[in-house]
Amino acid sequence: MDKVFVSRQLPGAALQRLGRATNMHCWPGDAPPDRDSLLAAVADCRGLLCTLNERIDSQLLQAAPQLAVVSSCSVGVDHVDLAALNSRGVILGHTPHVLTDATADLAFALLLAAARRLPEGERHVRSGAWAAQPGWDPSLLLGTDLRGRTLGLLGLGPIGQAMARRAQGFGLRIVGWTPSGRAVDGVEAADFDGVLEQADFLSLHLALTPQTRHIIDARALARLRPHAILINSARGGLVDEAALAAALQAGRLGGAALDVFEQEPIASTHALLQLPGVVVAPHLGSATRGTREAMAELAVDNLLAGLRGEPLPAAYPLPTRKDA
Ligand code: DGY
Repeated sequence: MDKVFVSRQLPGAALQRLGRATNMHCWPGDAPPDRDSLLAAVADCRGLLCTLNERIDSQLLQAAPQLAVVSSCSVGVDHVDLAALNSRGVILGHTPHVLTDATADLAFALLLAAARRLPEGERHVRSGAWAAQPGWDPSLLLGTDLRGRTLGLLGLGPIGQAMARRAQGFGLRIVGWTPSGRAVDGVEAADFDGVLEQADFLSLHLALTPQTRHIIDARALARLRPHAILINSARGGLVDEAALAAALQAGRLGGAALDVFEQEPIASTHALLQLPGVVVAPHLGSATRGTREAMAELAVDNLLAGLRGEPLPAAYPLPTRKDA
């Protein structure tokens, strides 16, 4: 049986299935394996099932001379050096589509939480500040209406499109830009700056690549309207967090609702966490039981298909060998 390493325990029964079909070693800890343990664990493996916490690069490939398939239990693959995989002929699977709705739900929840100042409201109640007031207050924590406002979308893949469908139900107008120039029903196409300039809410749905790293930098932030709210449920590296904190501190932005960060976990002392208009979550986009179980099933399907030499149900397209 093929030897495979799984870097994390995953929800559901998928790993039991993998364990029956392979010689599987699953990292037992609650935390991901440290680098040395990971490199040692893959030494004689043909398959690796990883998460976005593990860096899959040429060092790891050197440590795993028999590796044939990497299956990442994530849709994003910015933790993988695609060129290194390609030059070794290692194939890559990921988990698109099964997490689309859960991630769009979370992105829309962040939008609503920021627009209606829910975390501030919760702090107000729990701290006793509300108990010290007479009760209903006509001016307490006034938020922003959604109907008639404009949602700007950067990235119009499945999750961006699912975000657009949710926004339509709330009466938002939607403008969008995507690097591929793809047209999407119900989304008015605009160029990158056009989306920034029109957005009351700006939601990011781009993959993190060398081209999109810090796509929201000081220049982009300066194009946003001063009341605009930035929502990021994609990858922290899309945003220059120092520039974002500076824009918020200077009152040049309405707020930010962030599920992802440049460094995860974000330090509790980080400048962004000191700002009241910032809503945060610990990378929960796909965090529903059903979705995480579906991701695990797809990751196992990808790994088993790759080990058998069959097409992966969800292969991540690597650059052609001659482009690498
Ligand atoms: C992914 O899959 O890339 C998410 O960020 C985690 O679900």
